[in-house]
Formats: sequence, C-alpha cells, structure tokens
Amino acid sequence: MTNGDPYALARSDADLLRDRLGEHTVAVVLGSGWAGVGAGLGDVRADMAMSDLAGVPAPTVAGHGGTASSVDVGGVRTLVLAGRSHLYEGHPPSTVVHAVRSAVLAGCTTVCLTNAAGSLRPDVGVGTPVVIADHLNLTGANPMCGPEPPGPPGSRFTDLTRLYSPRLREAAGPDRVEGVYAGLLGGSYETPAEIRMLRTLGADLVGMSTVLEAIAAQHLGAEVFGVSLVTNLAAGLAAEIDHGEVLAAGAAAQDRLADLLRRVVAAA
Ligand code: HPA
Repeated sequence: MTNGDPYALARSDADLLRDRLGEHTVAVVLGSGWAGVGAGLGDVRADMAMSDLAGVPAPTVAGHGGTASSVDVGGVRTLVLAGRSHLYEGHPPSTVVHAVRSAVLAGCTTVCLTNAAGSLRPDVGVGTPVVIADHLNLTGANPMCGPEPPGPPGSRFTDLTRLYSPRLREAAGPDRVEGVYAGLLGGSYETPAEIRMLRTLGADLVGMSTVLEAIAAQHLGAEVFGVSLVTNLAAGLAAEIDHGEVLAAGAAAQDRLADLLRRVVAAA
C-alpha cells in the first residue's frame, strides 16, 4: 500500500466507488462516536465494505466501522464513510487520506470530517459538538510530502489559510461552539503537561485524526468542514480517560450530531 502512486490508487478506487454506489457531491467521514449518526442522516440507498477499496486496510480499533454508504440527505447524494485509518495504527499518511482522496476524485466537492476529541476547555463539556475553526497539525506527518502531486500549477504547497470553510461553519448554525483542533500522532492519550502545552499553543480540542484528511481534501479542491464531538475532558482536566466512555458519549449525542450534519450538507 505504501508503494506506487497513491493518486493512481485513489483514482481507481474513485471509479469503484462510482460503480458500486453512484455519484455523490458530499462525503461525510464518521469518526469514533459518530458511527450511529450515518443512518440518521437520511435514506441509505446502497452500501459496501470500505475494505473492498484497494487502498483501505481492515480497521483495527473497536468502535471504528468500515462501511461506505450512499445516503440521500434531504435530496443531496452523500457518500458516508464510516471508518477511517489512523497514523497510530502504523499506516502511512497516503493510506490515512486514501478514502477522502478517492471520494473527492469520485466527484465529491464537499468533505465533512467528524471525530471524537478531548476538550481543553472545562466550559466545553462531554457531548458538545465543536465546529473546527482551524487546526494545529502536530502529527509530524503531511499527506503532501512526497513527489510533486498531480494538480494545477501552484497546488504544490496548498494554501491552508481558509482550510475549514467559513461558509460551512456558518451553516452549522448560530449557536455553534467553535474551536482549534490539535491533531496528534496518537497511540496514547496525552499527559497533563502535554495538554497544558497544547492550551498554550491555542488548541481547544485534541485528537488523533482529521488534520491530514482536511489537507488532502483541500489540495484536491474540495470545500472542507470539520466537527469534533467532545467525548472527554483532556488529561489533567478530569479524572481519567476511558475508551468506553469515549464511545458512550457518542451514543448519547446522536440526534444533535445528525441535525448539525444535515444543516451543513444542505448548504454544500
Ligand atoms: N486525546 C486524544 N484523542 C482523543 C481524546 C483525547 O483526550 N479523546 C478522544 N480522542
């Protein structure tokens, strides 16, 4: 999977997505805690195993599904990708962004990225959806590293000034909470000292996904939206972090999350 041209692999998986699931204008990636939201978005028309895509490895963490579905969300053909690959599983950046690249190359012009995150703000508690206003990519990785990617002149160093679409953030509603998401390599949760460092750096949320996919989607010309579900207060702000609690917080907030995503998809 690390060999060869990742864009060629994404183009061939884009063809497979179109063949199996049809045309879509919006892609929604469901992170941990969001898996149940997919069906609540609208009518599921067709689905397939994500691992049928040549560039998608089998998922390894409990709570991460692995299904790509074609969902009619209020008349908008939406490709819902439940399950993603992470750096902390040992995958290279090209694998982490593969499903998003394939979705954009298959015709999706908007990409909505969802995730579970720890909150660095005690006033933003468990169960709150936080719209991502900007990010800190602290993974040490970038999907744009490597040979000159295909694309128009000037796309080598993609401009991230307005990575998270102001227009789509607005569409999430006037009462939305916004924050800066720090994306880390992961593999473990953070220490309290690391959380204090991240706070000093301007982060409101911390997680182990999303930032690479956002960069890859924007590079291929898609409009990007991101939203975190706060599943715990970050290390040092509360007692302990437990993966079971992370999943339970997701289950409790499903309707609210589906409403928010439907508003964004309608504006796409
Ligand atoms: N840290 C990193 N990733 C996470 C967290 C956290 O506290 N919660 C959910 N994903």
